[in-house]
Amino acid sequence: TKGIYDHFMQKEIFEQDTVLERTLLPALKNGLVNEAALGDNAAELLKDIEHVHIVACGTSYHAGMVASYTLESLCGVTCKVELASEYRYRRVVVKPKTLFVTLSQSGETADTLAALRFAKRQPYQATLAICNVPESSLVRESQLVFLTQAGPEIGVASTKAFTTQLMNMSLLAVLLARYQGLSQHRELALIDMLRRAPEQVRRVYSLDNQIAELAEGIAERNYALFLGRGQMYPIAMEGALKLKEITYMSAEAYAAGELKHGPLALVDSQVPVVALAPYNPLLAKMKSNLAEVRARGGQLIVIADEGAGYRDGTSERVLTVPKSGGLISPIVYTLPLQLLAYHAALYRGTNVDQPRNLAKSVTVE
Ligand code: F6R
Repeated sequence: TKGIYDHFMQKEIFEQDTVLERTLLPALKNGLVNEAALGDNAAELLKDIEHVHIVACGTSYHAGMVASYTLESLCGVTCKVELASEYRYRRVVVKPKTLFVTLSQSGETADTLAALRFAKRQPYQATLAICNVPESSLVRESQLVFLTQAGPEIGVASTKAFTTQLMNMSLLAVLLARYQGLSQHRELALIDMLRRAPEQVRRVYSLDNQIAELAEGIAERNYALFLGRGQMYPIAMEGALKLKEITYMSAEAYAAGELKHGPLALVDSQVPVVALAPYNPLLAKMKSNLAEVRARGGQLIVIADEGAGYRDGTSERVLTVPKSGGLISPIVYTLPLQLLAYHAALYRGTNVDQPRNLAKSVTVE
């Protein structure tokens, strides 16, 4: 049931602190990633992995995109992320020592399942499913399984399944990094960072009223642009998807560096621009992108880390979220975007839990 909440989506957003913890803890042993959580023979199958192919649809695809940044930077393995509907119909080149990973909440998505069956005929070293439903087809048919513990997700728009996928992908990256020589000391520090995710998420909950106000401004418009760099680019994509799905507004996400290559032409005083600007080495670049939006009179909503020095301006609102480390900032920045979409849908009076034309589990192509 929905309990004290008005909608399942709202309930599921506010469960994320709990389900992140529930996903993380059983995957640890003595403060390190417990490889047995992925299967009995996980160590043997994963220890010399050099390449990773990730395949998924929709929100799960965005989780894969976030992970690709971590996999390459932390583990030095090459990583390719692809939509299942594209992957399954092309000739793929599989180098030795490649791991095939699917991401899926339901484990029954037709394209993802077909992609796995196709992959099993290719020379992959192993297939791994990151999935939320233990008895699903995807889980049954994969060699290795790393379950998310999000519990049943009822709202059609995926929320808690996504952030728990991010958690498991981070754990997988840490494990692969260990096999590539990451020190135990570094691993402990990374896991410590992941342990802080539930607390950081709870701190974002306290911004709910502020986010509802920002959502009112967005809900009056018909289009919104989301910008991010690095791992925040796929998070921007996820924010745009959430808004589209439940408000029927048009929304797009761009890597901020692409602004001048097209989308800047759309920006005027009627266009809300949601910018994800965590404190990281890309912040200076992000700031110059925001100056371009400002110069065209766009309505900026900047989501930034506490203490990063952003201030509200005439046509600019700043939402500050807790400062978080690289591995968990994608989780922390997802929360305000989910809440933004949720509140915008309330203002627009749309069906939050069951958006028109969409099904929770896409079991046909
Ligand atoms: C978006 C959403 C969909 C699913 C997609 C894949 O909110 O829910 O985009 O993410 O249909 O579903 P799963 O993860 O079950 O394979």
